[in-house]
Amino acid sequence: MKKVGVAILGLGVVGGGTYRILTEHREFYQATQAIDINIESVLEPNGKKLKELGVPKELIAHNIAEVVCDPDVNLVVECIGGVEAAREYVLDVLYSGKTVVTSNKELIAKYYHELERTAKRHNAGLYFEASCVGGVPILRTLLDGVQSNRITSMMGIINGTTNYILTKMTEEGASYGEALREAQRLGYAEADPDADVEGFDAAYKLSVLSSLAFHTKVPYTKVLREGITDVAAEDIERGKALGYRLKMLAIAKQSETGVEVRVHPAFIKKEHPLASVSGSNNAVFLTGDSVGDLMLYGKGAGDLPTGSAIVSDILYAASRSEPRYSTFKNNANPDKDIKFVTDFASAYYMRLSVTDKTGVLSKIAAIFGKNNISILELLQTPENDGATVVIVTHETHEAAVKNAVTKLNASEIAKVEAVLRVVS
Ligand code: HSE
Repeated sequence: MKKVGVAILGLGVVGGGTYRILTEHREFYQATQAIDINIESVLEPNGKKLKELGVPKELIAHNIAEVVCDPDVNLVVECIGGVEAAREYVLDVLYSGKTVVTSNKELIAKYYHELERTAKRHNAGLYFEASCVGGVPILRTLLDGVQSNRITSMMGIINGTTNYILTKMTEEGASYGEALREAQRLGYAEADPDADVEGFDAAYKLSVLSSLAFHTKVPYTKVLREGITDVAAEDIERGKALGYRLKMLAIAKQSETGVEVRVHPAFIKKEHPLASVSGSNNAVFLTGDSVGDLMLYGKGAGDLPTGSAIVSDILYAASRSEPRYSTFKNNANPDKDIKFVTDFASAYYMRLSVTDKTGVLSKIAAIFGKNNISILELLQTPENDGATVVIVTHETHEAAVKNAVTKLNASEIAKVEAVLRVVS
């Protein structure tokens, strides 16, 4: 029987779920995998949490040094969250040659290069399945399940909070503010919701996912990031009437032109499998050159789903004779020959307020034409003092759309009220 002595840093939602799974499934892992995982130590300053989980007194550590120096601990689970303290703790653990399992996406997105370099020097493992898409085994899929493929694209709903908010707006016609307040009441969104609603959380995850999928460093600073705070219920409704659903999408592509990574709200056809991923659920839809399309779906957050990913990493680490490291040059910056595409191709939805008089549509069409943008659909609705025009374009380029928007706003006849990308 292989023995693993585990310490858990932080008994919040994820640490608590991990503690419960390890406690309740110990015999199951012994019987099915010949691995005995014993919790040796827990570092958690909040006595209430320790009491709630019934952590025995003798397991309670008082500082990181106790954990690092404990000869019975050979794997440390980092669930304290935040970045700088977590980085210090994880580096201390790796220096001591112990393996780290973490759910901390911001830590991995920002410091993977430094942590992995330290892990390699000390022959320690560094695993982070739980950092991306909670209980959905997306990293294992990329590293083991589809490793035979060249991954050409990934598109995902990888933030549950924004998916909950957009679902509520779509299904109940709620405003952004109403949906956010409900998400906060249910505990999906934090009191300060910026990390989720402004797309930081998804950008960190996409940086990690695309680095592994494309075998090249994709820094999170290269991810184009736009949040959902300006999304109007009116556009969700108008998009719905045209057969679309609005989703906060994380998109990564690799082609001869380069690597393209972006996180933003976008319309997607209601028949697309991602369109029916609702509430706080997550999914990743990826395409490989051999496997074709593949979709993984499940819970992207929560104590037991994320704990499931952490414990799977512990079992994975325990079943290997050597740690597994990245397949690419893991530096702070990407290789010089990697190009990042910023003027990417996409279709667009635009809502304009226009003055309703002769020749207005032909002038708008001319601005589109001059920018080489082809119109796919156009819908005009009369309003009291003019009209609303909704236009969906064929695939075009970001720069062309920006230029057209500037020209339209400078004209006397139209004001661009909303622009949203459409997955074509
Ligand atoms: N806050 C994240 C979400 C979960 O809403 O999906 C942890 O990454």
